[in-house]
Amino acid sequence: MCGIVGYIGKKNAVPLLIEGLKALEYRGYDSSGISVIDKKIETIKASGKIVNLIDKLFKRPINGNIGIGHTRWATHGEPNEINAHPHQSREVAIVHNGIIENAKEIEAFLAKNGYKRKSQTDSELIAHLINYFYNGNLLNACLKAVHMLNGSFAVGVICRREKKLIGIKYKSPLIVGIGNGENFIASDVAPLLPYTNRFLFLEDGEIAEIDEDNIRIFDFRGSEVKKDISTVDWTKEQAEKGGYKHFMLKEIAEEGDAVRNTLLGRIDDNISLEEELKWNGKFINNINKVVLVACGTSYYAALVGRYILQNVAHIPATAEVASEFRYENILLDRNTLFIVISQSGETADTLESMSYAKSQNIPTLSIVNVQGSSIARMSDYVLYTHAGPEISVASTKAFVSQLAILYLFTLFLSRTKRTLNNQQLKDYTEELLKIPDKINETFEINLQKVQNIAPYYSQFKNYLYLGRGILYPIALEGALKLKEISYLHAEGYAAGEMKHGPIALIDKTTPSVFLIPPSPLLLNKTLSNIKEVSSRKGEIIAVATDKYEKIEDAGLVLTTPSTDLIFSPFLYIVPLQLFAYSIANYLGYDVDHPRNLAKSVTVE
Ligand code: G6P
Repeated sequence: MCGIVGYIGKKNAVPLLIEGLKALEYRGYDSSGISVIDKKIETIKASGKIVNLIDKLFKRPINGNIGIGHTRWATHGEPNEINAHPHQSREVAIVHNGIIENAKEIEAFLAKNGYKRKSQTDSELIAHLINYFYNGNLLNACLKAVHMLNGSFAVGVICRREKKLIGIKYKSPLIVGIGNGENFIASDVAPLLPYTNRFLFLEDGEIAEIDEDNIRIFDFRGSEVKKDISTVDWTKEQAEKGGYKHFMLKEIAEEGDAVRNTLLGRIDDNISLEEELKWNGKFINNINKVVLVACGTSYYAALVGRYILQNVAHIPATAEVASEFRYENILLDRNTLFIVISQSGETADTLESMSYAKSQNIPTLSIVNVQGSSIARMSDYVLYTHAGPEISVASTKAFVSQLAILYLFTLFLSRTKRTLNNQQLKDYTEELLKIPDKINETFEINLQKVQNIAPYYSQFKNYLYLGRGILYPIALEGALKLKEISYLHAEGYAAGEMKHGPIALIDKTTPSVFLIPPSPLLLNKTLSNIKEVSSRKGEIIAVATDKYEKIEDAGLVLTTPSTDLIFSPFLYIVPLQLFAYSIANYLGYDVDHPRNLAKSVTVE
């Protein structure tokens, strides 16, 4: 939530900040703004998307070599211009991502000292606090201010009297980019990829004092901290649209490659995660339960993970929504492995859930896409997905890459625990290796088809998505995609549960999307459910492998190449993502920036 970018160097900061904000727009787009130091602090802000800010800059250009920028996902205060960041207090301007929980207390303290807030935001108070403490040294003022703040805060600070850029990190993400005669701060690496791939990943409780040639990191007590430079192997091209109308479509088209890259180097004759995890046989054999925790789309990947861990590796597993898990005090014993899944590696509830597991001394493994993110750094072990930067708010290629890691991991455990014999392992591994090509084929088969039917299917206001077993989470994810970007109501349900409620909704205005399992047993049960819907005049859309493409009563069948039931999630999700994309695109919505959503939810 909220994106921050900051620059110090010899160039004009404005175009850099604007490009940076565009790359961060997926974190929030309620308002945006920039401040640069010219002779004084110059600020331009606008409500709504970054194009509005650019319009204003055309009318009133500003420039300076030091600057900060912000794109907002509103928490405190309406998304209008006054509440947009940066916030200024005399000589100081700040941008903030997070929430200040003791805002009332700080406001009272500041009021006694003659400060009055102009906006409704908690963030403005940070600017006043730093200005209050400012006595000729910006770093010292920031060090004093942070001790008064409770909550979460990633902050970028500039001050008219100093050629410095300050970055503060506490429970919200902030990284430092190292350039040549110029340096940067940002919420994540994506906006900085055009300029550098060398980063310092700040930990909670750290402050960076930056000028164009030097970066010094301090803890909140003011002691200097030495940090290693990390390099990130993403490229700037990966974070560009590459001729596609939307990032979402580009990212769906990249799914085969995302899975291939995630598998790359992790399968030789066998599944080889030993290098990365460095677990011995005893450690693995002791694992008698797996708890998977995540939010949103990553949670649906966790549900698939739960299914394969139980059905393939025969290890008891549960999957929990992080925001619920945190407050349930679920008992974890020492032989439980705790897995969190997160594209961004910054989701607040997921991070806090892992912190709870760590407090119980449970081994933690994270499956994360963004290198060097908070979750990746906090977990005992990390397996990175190699999906590349995912820009569209609705997650697509990160999801299939998360599945790829979960399948690899399940096969890895199965081999060590000997819950699969060599032949079974070989068969599963061979099929997993075919998945990237089959995903590409699925994309090709369905792209034109869903574009053709979008005008018809965009007329309906309600959809049911029904799946069984391993395809139930895919029904949930398919429904989530439709509601996220096309604002049509869609409910994912276990097909067998349909008779216990949702069937009451069926009439000719509510289509049902059935995921037809490529398994004779489950197939017949699902075909019976289809009859129950069609006899009530409900429209049927089916997703099936080409072996089962003739589904009686279905008005539309979206097909995938043949695969085993166990691998079907990888393929079935593709037409569902394309279906949602085509409808949203047909309806003219801003697919990559759906209303009210943010890609990285760093508030609880
Ligand atoms: C937000 C995003 C979703 C994402 C979820 C979890 O809601 O809009 O696309 O699935 O957060 O994010 P994570 O980065 O932890 O996977």
